[in-house]
Amino acid sequence: MRDPKVIPTELLAWYDRHARALPWRVAPGQGRADPYRVWLSEVMLQQTTVAAVKAYFERFTSLWPTVHDLAAAEDAQVMAEWAGLGYYARARNLVACARAVAALGAFPDTRAGLAALPGIGAYTSAAIAAIAFDRPETVVDGNVERVVARLFAVGTPLPAAKPELVALAGSLTPDRRPGDFAQAMMDLGATICTPRSPACGICPIIPHCAARAQGIAAELPRKAPKKPKPLRRGTVWIGFAEGAVLVETRPDKGLLGGTLAFPSTGWDGSHQPPPARADWQEIGLVRHVFTHFALDLTVMSARLTAAPERGSLTPLGAFRPDALPGLMRKAWSLAKDRSETARPATPRRHGKPQQKP
Ligand code: ADE
Repeated sequence: MRDPKVIPTELLAWYDRHARALPWRVAPGQGRADPYRVWLSEVMLQQTTVAAVKAYFERFTSLWPTVHDLAAAEDAQVMAEWAGLGYYARARNLVACARAVAALGAFPDTRAGLAALPGIGAYTSAAIAAIAFDRPETVVDGNVERVVARLFAVGTPLPAAKPELVALAGSLTPDRRPGDFAQAMMDLGATICTPRSPACGICPIIPHCAARAQGIAAELPRKAPKKPKPLRRGTVWIGFAEGAVLVETRPDKGLLGGTLAFPSTGWDGSHQPPPARADWQEIGLVRHVFTHFALDLTVMSARLTAAPERGSLTPLGAFRPDALPGLMRKAWSLAKDRSETARPATPRRHGKPQQKP
């Protein structure tokens, strides 16, 4: 292994030639990125892939070009635009954070100042401070964990290895261009030091890699076995009446909080009555995987003949299925053809789990 002090210089030289062009980035050497765009992208990128985030980022920044525009937005519109990205607490915190920044006048330019804002944790505060303000903070996401575990051949399994990996990553962080360095580590992890079959032959820092020297790069980082997720069950009711569909906004607290939804049971096995008396027919089953459990949701549909006891009837012309979270979109895809008639159909299964790998 050569002197690890040269790793940042060698990696930055590689980044200068190979940085991914991403909508929230400024090309290497082209000055600092806008803190608003860095913050927005980092919040979107938590638990969600770069490929999935790009279109949402473009849409948000065209609707709300500055943090002040986002601070003035309606909560419901932000929730609707966020639909499909998952982890809806992020969207609620996004608006709260935009309003806090607007009240301050601008984003704080230190990690501690950023960490005091709603929804900004250890990772995001470090990323914004480094990328937007050139602070020498250490940014450790899943890609960086993998690169560091391999560079230093850390055999401890995740998540126990995390503090060690953060300390080792910190030992690499340079004072010069820390934001580019953080993004270079991410790009290396995403494009070369990949989870399976890393492309060690083209790695710019291969002479420093202890795992490669030991022939164990592809085995690292080790991971403690995951607990199997419990399976929960529930029911969702999609009711139609006179060219309208019955929807509600979920309570702010709890899973899918604040999102547009069809009325459903809780997902803890507790009984709840349908939202209206009607001839409910089972039309299928959707499966969705959340962070801590999998859900099998039975989808019922009916033409409503009595006034609903919960939710509100929204004309189909004004109903936007793309404002629904993924779970409810899957349910809608089974029911949408019944918007004119609520005839019974053979139950069918629909939907694959969607998770960041
Ligand atoms: N993942 C999280 N933040 C990122 C960034 N700034 N660039 C690329 N991938 C990322």
